[in-house]
Amino acid sequence: MLNIRYEKTLTPKELPTQDNPLKFGTIFTDHMFVMDYETRKGWHDARIIPYQPISLEPSAMVFHYGQEMFEGLKAYKAEDGRVLLFRPEKNIERANNTNRRICIPEIPEEDFLQAIKEVVKTDEAWIPTKPGTSLYIRPFIIATDPFLGVRPSDTYKFLIILSPVGAYYPEGLNPVKIWIEDEFVRAVKGGIGEAKTGANYVASLKSQVKAHEEGYSQVLWLDGVHRKYIEEVGAMNIFFKIDGRIVTPALNGSILPGVTRDSVISLCKKWGLPVEERRIDIAEIKKAFDDGTLEEVFGSGTAAVISPVGQLRWENNIMQVKDGGIGEYSQKIYDTITGIQLGKLEDTLHWTVE
Ligand code: COI
Repeated sequence: MLNIRYEKTLTPKELPTQDNPLKFGTIFTDHMFVMDYETRKGWHDARIIPYQPISLEPSAMVFHYGQEMFEGLKAYKAEDGRVLLFRPEKNIERANNTNRRICIPEIPEEDFLQAIKEVVKTDEAWIPTKPGTSLYIRPFIIATDPFLGVRPSDTYKFLIILSPVGAYYPEGLNPVKIWIEDEFVRAVKGGIGEAKTGANYVASLKSQVKAHEEGYSQVLWLDGVHRKYIEEVGAMNIFFKIDGRIVTPALNGSILPGVTRDSVISLCKKWGLPVEERRIDIAEIKKAFDDGTLEEVFGSGTAAVISPVGQLRWENNIMQVKDGGIGEYSQKIYDTITGIQLGKLEDTLHWTVE
């Protein structure tokens, strides 16, 4: 159990008003959690302090070789006043998987959860309550050794910052347009694609810029070897409903194992829908589109929750899904997950933590 030191802010910021649209990731709360690591001391000096800039040497290793991990999860305020976290143990497990992959010392799971709970409790007043909003929790670890050689750092900082957010995409639950990338790749099997680390996101930027210029919200990645098997969207995992079956790429080592992905699969199975986690050739999607069996496409992610896909563009093919509207299952899954997150629906799968 962590012994957390507290330093409350003397200059609390004004809370956003209910009519603030809460553009994703732009507002930060009054406090943050910080903890340091040194080889001799291990993780130590846990503290909740005012949200503020951090001071690092310009030579800090994170700036040069990108040794950093991050996570994303959300807290919700239920109507009865309870504060609910959604499956935090899954994020913590994934955080330590990332840590192992990129040589960052693990954080004991119970300490990680305590840190999240304490900092959220400290800034509980910042949890927005308007439909579609939540408090986004961003834990991250950075390598801080002042050193320019390539090796794992001996010192780290673990921080948790909080941001009241609305929808990730400006489209909200309206369908997004997705560009299927056939030039660059995001990750390959054996690489770091399944780790939640900044390098995977920086690898996506050039394609994202290109997609934006063409009027698309996001990029859908194909595998790095055959260049034809569907992987993920980068900020989301991807699902297809083909002829009554829910199909999603299997976790193959280069795809991020999304917590919302796992939740979608569990819900669909519970509802008796056939769910297939397997390799999906992009040509299969084109064929399903052509023969009219591509019934729905949607992305899943913590930030986005569920994001219906209205259009896919692959090479010169433009596939307009569901006439660009919101699919039945996209809506049903969104309503169910957010209903559980907000404590409105019975949490039979025990996903929320108070
Ligand atoms: C999340 O969904 O929480 C993510 O980490 C995706 C991020 C790029 C916003």
